[in-house]
Amino acid sequence: MANILILYYSRNGSTLELARQVCRGVESVAGASALLRTVPPVTSAVQPPIEAVPAEGPPYVTPEEWASADGIALGSPTRFGTMAAPMKYFLDGTSASWVSGALVGRPGGVFTSTSTPHGGHEATLLSLIVPLLHHGMLIVGIPFTDASLSRTHGGGPYGAGVVTNGQAPALGEHEKHLAQVLGRRIATAALRLQGEPRV
Ligand SMILES: Cc1cc2nc3c(=O)[nH]c(=O)nc-3n(C[C@H](O)[C@H](O)[C@H](O)COP(=O)(O)O)c2cc1C
Repeated sequence: MANILILYYSRNGSTLELARQVCRGVESVAGASALLRTVPPVTSAVQPPIEAVPAEGPPYVTPEEWASADGIALGSPTRFGTMAAPMKYFLDGTSASWVSGALVGRPGGVFTSTSTPHGGHEATLLSLIVPLLHHGMLIVGIPFTDASLSRTHGGGPYGAGVVTNGQAPALGEHEKHLAQVLGRRIATAALRLQGEPRV
């Protein structure tokens, strides 16, 4: 069994919609299960007390869920051309699993939601890949052999995505498909890597 963590931050729901599609892709693979988790919000002002449990939606990820994942899909909205602070804040707290090498050799992929086509969509995907590389993960993208990649502005070879143009979350068929492909590829890679020496 491969347990795939789909970890996202979303304020207005579009990154969450992508995360749900990634989960569908994971669950379409026999022997794989999807764990959907989010991260707490942060603020540049004095840190308010964060509820231990979100008011609604998926629970906050625990350090154990992060470190024990057989594969990870990481998603964040674009904020000034890079990942959102809550995701970065969470990642900055993952030193223990970096020291232990818990995620070395495990597959990881990324997804994002961006308002404008040239406002940092690809840059955000690449910013999300960097910490996964530091954790020693094997990066899974989306190949151009999938025709949907040439028919959408959301997502690319670096990961899944949607360009919202400032509208409410509304994934098109290609964005949904590519997010599912990402989940399916991470799950398939995780199953194939199980039992293999860590590289
Ligand atoms: C502080 C802030 C910064 C943002 N920066 C960008 C940006 O650089 N480029 C862009 O296209 N959209 C930017 N956006 C818009 C979000 O990326 C976009 O609304 C995204 O779809 C939100 O995802 P969500 O629905 O999961 O919260 C920004 C939004 C906020 C609140």
